[in-house]
Amino acid sequence: MADRDLLRTTAAALLTAGFIVALDKQTEAQEKNEGQIAYNNACRTCHTTDEGDNRLGPNLHNIIGRKAGAAEGYNYSSAMKNAGFTWDEAKLDAFIANPDAVVSGNNMKPFSGITDEAERKKIVDYLASEGK
Ligand code: HEC
Repeated sequence: MADRDLLRTTAAALLTAGFIVALDKQTEAQEKNEGQIAYNNACRTCHTTDEGDNRLGPNLHNIIGRKAGAAEGYNYSSAMKNAGFTWDEAKLDAFIANPDAVVSGNNMKPFSGITDEAERKKIVDYLASEGK
């Protein structure tokens, strides 16, 4: 009898754990989805996240950790080509808030900058997760 109780408790605990993991995954997927929507609204007119697919702007595949101005086959402004840094979350956030403050004389235009910090974070998180 006691064994059966233990079995029941264990089964219930396992079910709960599985449920929590499923919920967690769902939240993650939802966040990624929101990020993708924000990215689509603000960036996709000129960028893709597909490797090697340069449009009006260079492709943003694995942009976090990539050297600035280094997408193969893309004709950058000399400002971006000579930016001399590697993109991380902070740089990207600052750049989409105000491109000229990060790379003066860059050619990402027309783009007025995203003032909403939460919106920028969604986009940066999305780009950081993309490709993983
Ligand atoms: C109107 C078109 C346009 C829009 C909209 C746009 N970009 Fe760009 N982006 C460009 C162009 C053009 C460049 C190249 C700039 C240069 O050479 O100076 C660029 C460059 C970049 C770079 C540098 C890439 C590298 O290889 O170093 C990043 C990062 C970037 N954009 C991110 C974004 C993000 C994120 C958004 C949305 C929030 C966005 N861009 C919206 C046109 C655009």
